[in-house]
Amino acid sequence: MPADTAAPAADLARYRLGFHVAPERGWLNDPNGLCQFRGNYHAFFQYNPKWPDFDTKYWRHFVSTDLFHWHDEGTALMTDIPEDRSGVYSGSAYVARGMAPDGGDLMCLYYTGNVVYPGGEAAGYDYVHSGREANEILVTSADGIEYSMKHVLLRNADYPTVCTEHVRDPKAWEQNGMLYMLLGARDLDDEGFCLLYESADGVEWAIKSQIYSKNQFGYMWECPNIVQIDGHDFLAVCPQGLEHEKLRRQNMWQAGYFPLPGSILDTVLVDEQTFVEWDHGYDFYAPQVFVDDAGRTILIGWMGAFDGEWTAAPRGLDWCHCLTVPRELSVGADGLLRQQPVAELEALRGEHQTLKLGETAEFDAYRADIEVSGISGAGALTLDDALEISYADGLLTVRFHDQDVAAGRPERSVPLNTLDDLRVVVDTSAVEIYANGGAEVFSTRWFPTGEKMAVCHTFEAATAEAWPLEDAMAHAFA
Ligand code: FRU
Repeated sequence: MPADTAAPAADLARYRLGFHVAPERGWLNDPNGLCQFRGNYHAFFQYNPKWPDFDTKYWRHFVSTDLFHWHDEGTALMTDIPEDRSGVYSGSAYVARGMAPDGGDLMCLYYTGNVVYPGGEAAGYDYVHSGREANEILVTSADGIEYSMKHVLLRNADYPTVCTEHVRDPKAWEQNGMLYMLLGARDLDDEGFCLLYESADGVEWAIKSQIYSKNQFGYMWECPNIVQIDGHDFLAVCPQGLEHEKLRRQNMWQAGYFPLPGSILDTVLVDEQTFVEWDHGYDFYAPQVFVDDAGRTILIGWMGAFDGEWTAAPRGLDWCHCLTVPRELSVGADGLLRQQPVAELEALRGEHQTLKLGETAEFDAYRADIEVSGISGAGALTLDDALEISYADGLLTVRFHDQDVAAGRPERSVPLNTLDDLRVVVDTSAVEIYANGGAEVFSTRWFPTGEKMAVCHTFEAATAEAWPLEDAMAHAFA
């Protein structure tokens, strides 16, 4: 079905996702407030219920016990104070242990209240240096259902004077008995950078440092995050305004991390040459990281983009975008991060199938977990002859053969010395591709049209296996 052709509602229902978080209706962007709180996993996200019409952003709220069976809890944070009147923008959760009135844990949500003054250029606003506000706000909850009053913690006048009015997306965490908060920012010279704040109580915040790159690396850094695993610190940011290159930085805006030589708390300068992209897209931005009660560091990204070049919702679909599956992060031997779907995904697996080289396997539904391991040399794996993942001449390539299915996504490659293994997770209209234990990842939407999914590969490999996956979202909106 061509992306710009409206299809009957029944045909569009096939694109509803089986284990990726997506709204029943409306638009989703960044994941927000990710946490495990009093046993449950909570995922909030940026939400515009009126999409494709314009509306401000709210936080929609999903809850799960296993990171795959999610339930939609409705809209949690609305725009109801002057300081967030143009949008409850992105932010994070910090779980304060034993700080609730009942002695249990308290969910502390830090977010940016966005304010855009009306009047536009006519009123003399450029919306960078004038015409807007970015307020950092705290809301708490003892049960994940009822929320406290909103406390405005920081306003534009509180930020260092180098800041423009673009300061947002607080990431709060605890370290050595203190609380820290990263904010993404744009300075007066159009350089992206981070602010690091410190607090003893989570309410009064003092600036600790400004973190810049050695050379200008985009005009704005959005959605900063911290990853701390086995004594290694990584600063994650989303720089806007980087040049696109043939084999990297191909999304409209980028999302990645800097491996830090020391602690984030002592960092004031990062080397932009060390920046590693999380995911080569097409649909990936603004990921957020949290640590769960088992101590796992888990990343969830927005599986979408602001790019208008491709269609993330074929005409007639009344919801747009999803979150990636939760990915456990680990540090590889090269000191860089690896991403793998959390182990709970395996609980959705049905009957095991062996994929024979060159033979087509069929799946009744477009939901499968495919693993090819011990790969030697070149080869390809295709889904429906429409989406091909190939390795040849030192390049790992994701290529769409059928532009109707691709909805505008053409072809992308990354350099790779050898391809050892490939994992492809398909969920109706979402595909996530993990190569070499998650060293390289691609996440893309697609809109297949077949009755059954055909999978075929041509790799010389030790094992090639696949499992159909359960529809874990069947009761998400009940
Ligand atoms: C990133 C972003 C954030 C902002 C939010 C608004 O995608 O632009 O910086 O808080 O989206 O929806």
